[in-house]
Amino acid sequence: MLRVVQKPQRLCQLGRLVRMPALQTAVLGNAKAVPAGSQRPAIPLQARAAIVRAFGTSAHLEAPQRHSAVVSSDTKSQVTVAYPDGKSTSFHGIWLRDHCRCPQCFHPITKQRLSDTGEFPLDIKPQSIEIVGDKDLRIVWPSTQHESVFSLEWLRQHSYWPNIGTARPAIREKILWNAETANTFPRVSYESIMAGDQGLAEWLRNIDVYGIGFVEGVPPNAEDTETLAKRIGIIRETHYGGFWDFTSDLSHGDTAYTTIGLPAHTDTTYFTDPIGLQTFHLLAHEGTGGESIYVDSFYAAKLLKEQHPEHYETLSTVPVRTHCAGDEDELHFSTPSHRPIFGLDPITDELIQVRFNEPDRSILNHIPGDKVYKFYEALAVWRSILTHPESEFKIALRPGTVVAVDNWRVLHGRTAFTGYRRLVGCYHGWDELQSRIRVVLDKSQLKETV
Ligand SMILES: [Fe+2]
Ligand SMILES: [Zn+2]
Repeated sequence: MLRVVQKPQRLCQLGRLVRMPALQTAVLGNAKAVPAGSQRPAIPLQARAAIVRAFGTSAHLEAPQRHSAVVSSDTKSQVTVAYPDGKSTSFHGIWLRDHCRCPQCFHPITKQRLSDTGEFPLDIKPQSIEIVGDKDLRIVWPSTQHESVFSLEWLRQHSYWPNIGTARPAIREKILWNAETANTFPRVSYESIMAGDQGLAEWLRNIDVYGIGFVEGVPPNAEDTETLAKRIGIIRETHYGGFWDFTSDLSHGDTAYTTIGLPAHTDTTYFTDPIGLQTFHLLAHEGTGGESIYVDSFYAAKLLKEQHPEHYETLSTVPVRTHCAGDEDELHFSTPSHRPIFGLDPITDELIQVRFNEPDRSILNHIPGDKVYKFYEALAVWRSILTHPESEFKIALRPGTVVAVDNWRVLHGRTAFTGYRRLVGCYHGWDELQSRIRVVLDKSQLKETV
């Protein structure tokens, strides 16, 4: 588009509103930026005025490093915005009207939509468009004369037809780890977390980046541990209670309440919304064994994907069911009942959740016969990666050290043990944890994205 604007001959044509085909070619000429199959009809008279305003005076024409906008009139009534770097993108009229950010349409404090999208005609089309101050796009809508002003930068960041926004880098890259690199985890002091948000931010950052966050110097009792956990947010109650305090007394029908070794797993795979964070504090152990095991399942999944993409695909697509049925009054499985072990983001395909708990896996009777072997083969390779000595980070916890684990990423387990072992801890919901991370660490960067 910019390439065309730079050609004086065409610009003269624009200024004189010459034949529409030439105009259309000139303004919408960046075919590469338009998805295949898009039909760009002739631009109506009222749009010509908009084009003239958008491309403007000769001063505009001599300064091609400017933004421009044009509205065309097909059934979708799109507005096309061109940026000085030559990229352009289109927006449907209904999309623009629906996303008006004026205080009548979008509450500036609650950040909630106030407008009623049902009131807008599906083929709504701007009455006029104008680039203001080379930074905003001002639209006046017909009949109501309602005015919407969009920052061109905001439009670019939220563009979709095509998306020409700069890819938002992850605010913090996740650092994947194995047994060898696990010893470098930063640790945060209990005092700093209790003293203010700076210490809390460090703890949350470690949980977000490594999937595991150690805290040192915690008074070795249940009350102070609970107070510490509540710095993250409200504790998620489940049938195991709120803040739990347990020994190997089989008070719940779960292997965790025995002395048997636990292979690395995630908790509550049988919930529709598995818990997001698990916080542990070992308050006492008089006996042998009982080492804690942690595995970064995202690291393991990356290895699986690189070395056995077909198995990664199987575990991302074949749903399995897990259950919780050991307590007389409980019977849990998720809705829907079957979920793949790897939960992928439906938009980016990125791995966002691992649900893996072999003891809790239910009967497999839903996998087609010709896929059963494939599933078991993928499972076997996945298990061999998880249980490899290079994956398993083993550590003997001591009173005073609290560890918080991202339950959607880091598997936890323990070796068998003898003697008395007392562990306290709790769960936090995934959404509460993420909200806390965003608010404490990223609020200023994220508040414009809703
Ligand atoms: Fe567990
Ligand atoms: Zn509005």
